[in-house]
Amino acid sequence: MQIKVYESPQETAENFAEYLYLKSRIKTERNDFFHLAVSGGSTPERLFQILAQRDEMNWDLIRLFWVDERCVPPENDQSNYGKVKELLLNKIVMPEINIFRMKGEMPPEKAVEEYTEVLTNNAPLKNNLPSFDLLFLGVGEDGHTASIFPGNLDLLDSDKFCLHTVNPQTKQDRLTLTAKVINNSAEVSFLITGGKKAKVFNDIINKTPEAINYPAYHISTMDKNLIYWIDKSVVA
Ligand code: 6PG
Repeated sequence: MQIKVYESPQETAENFAEYLYLKSRIKTERNDFFHLAVSGGSTPERLFQILAQRDEMNWDLIRLFWVDERCVPPENDQSNYGKVKELLLNKIVMPEINIFRMKGEMPPEKAVEEYTEVLTNNAPLKNNLPSFDLLFLGVGEDGHTASIFPGNLDLLDSDKFCLHTVNPQTKQDRLTLTAKVINNSAEVSFLITGGKKAKVFNDIINKTPEAINYPAYHISTMDKNLIYWIDKSVVA
């Protein structure tokens, strides 16, 4: 596990974008697909804007999946896909067939079935689970990650590929990859910026008793190529 600390959220995003490019190039320069799964929320918005400016990304060979989605249509400002479309996809040339969004507009259980099919047919399988080359996550102040929330730790053991969950604060229906799929990725990175995330991050790193209740902690305890990309306001 590595922790990379930068001066600012912008610098954190710039360095992660460079890392993402270098990792993708390993696959794309040998004409293989690079399978990337992205999270939503506000933290990665800078990253998507930076990636939109990086002409050297070989989007023809990058397959884009989502870690989670709000159960809203793509044009809703809450949509994780909608945000990526606004900040990145509308600004680059990427084949539609490389974009695998979760269908937030569908009834949740139907959307779960549909995305399970999408993953089965388009993501490499390892240990009989989808396996992404790189998957990045954010973390909520309550320790949630993806759309796995505290109080749903039983979901960490689900053998399904994706699930319908509900945000306990907002009661918003969500779609999420399961912890087993997240941990089956070749690499997992957390993007965590802003002082509000300092407590949850330091709880996780210091394995405090409170951290046990955080879904993000359980992702971090798996033996993975795990990197935390943080800015200095997150360091205690
Ligand atoms: C989502 C995300 C979620 C996010 C955290 C942090 O759909 O909201 O996938 O898990 O990463 O809530 O969100 P912020 O980056 O907005 O703090």
